[in-house]
Amino acid sequence: MEKVDPLLSVKDLKTQFFTYGGVVQALDEVSFEIHSGEVFGLVGESGCGKSVTVSSILGLVQKPGRIVSGRIDFKSENLLEKSERQMNDVRGSSISIIFQDPTSSLNPLFKIGYQVAEPLIYHQYKKNKEAQSRAVELLKRMGIPDPAKKAKCYPFELSGGMRQRVMIAMALACQPDLLIADEPTTNLDVTIERQILSLVRELQAETGTSLLWITHDLAIIAEMCDRVGVMYAGNIVEVADVKTLFRDPRHPYTVKLLKAIPSEEHSVDVLDEIPGAVPQLISPPPGCRFHPRCEHAMEICKVQKPAVNQLNSDHSVACHLAAEEGR
Ligand SMILES: Nc1ncnc2c1ncn2[C@@H]1O[C@H](COP(=O)(O)OP(=O)(O)O)[C@@H](O)[C@H]1O
Ligand SMILES: [Mg+2]
Repeated sequence: MEKVDPLLSVKDLKTQFFTYGGVVQALDEVSFEIHSGEVFGLVGESGCGKSVTVSSILGLVQKPGRIVSGRIDFKSENLLEKSERQMNDVRGSSISIIFQDPTSSLNPLFKIGYQVAEPLIYHQYKKNKEAQSRAVELLKRMGIPDPAKKAKCYPFELSGGMRQRVMIAMALACQPDLLIADEPTTNLDVTIERQILSLVRELQAETGTSLLWITHDLAIIAEMCDRVGVMYAGNIVEVADVKTLFRDPRHPYTVKLLKAIPSEEHSVDVLDEIPGAVPQLISPPPGCRFHPRCEHAMEICKVQKPAVNQLNSDHSVACHLAAEEGR
């Protein structure tokens, strides 16, 4: 079989924030790949580095942050070598992003239809009228009732759920190669969340757009994703296809996450159930960053960072215990 390059390859990515209080080691050699047409999930507790991963990929790490080392290859080109202007083009046409808070990304002064049409005009050189009708079509596909009328509304005239649908329509407008969603449904109620997830999944299957879906909720991962990376304190500790991860988790943190899924959907924040706190990343624990919270911690875990152990072609884990068991 011919080897196909992944659409996105993040390799040994190290992003840090140089604050007065010290260096925040937010990403500690993060590596993962997303293939064309795939839905890849990134899951982990708040503060583990999910959003910094996103801003690193998009070239939007703000001062005092900086990518210290590593590579980000997108369509076989190293994004870290691109100019600000080239990255602007990438963000507008090849990679789209949906953030958690739609109000921060929609301009309150412009009508919805214009905002969805604008990237089409800008990046695909479409005529205004053509772009407007495509915008209405996209709003309709996102399950927005009476889309032609809604296109003439300002953001404040819509509910939070509707605004988030508009955001997704905008993100899909340019038919990006990769759509990144950073906890886009966290602020919505469960029914609306489910509707939006299934709409996105439907559109994804239709268009073949690759998705990077970020969440702290494993139930969403199970529903949305083909493969998943589990993040803990700036490291990706396990990567597997979704079925394998749920059936045969190998990292003790993944095991704990799975055990913490509540039986009643969304009744508690799943990750609050795990004892201990995510470490401060200015002085993270030496060795394996999870060792202070790990029931299986051995001496080596306190001193040596575990290497990534490739269990098979689609399952890898960074854990000394798994490495021992594999021997
Ligand atoms: N501008 C910043 N300055 C200093 N530290 C930051 C900044 N942005 C993020 N961090 C730190 O980087 C780590 C990862 O944050 P983030 O990626 O936002 O987590 P997540 O999205 O998983 O909740 C956290 O420890 C956070 O405090
Ligand atoms: Mg975040």
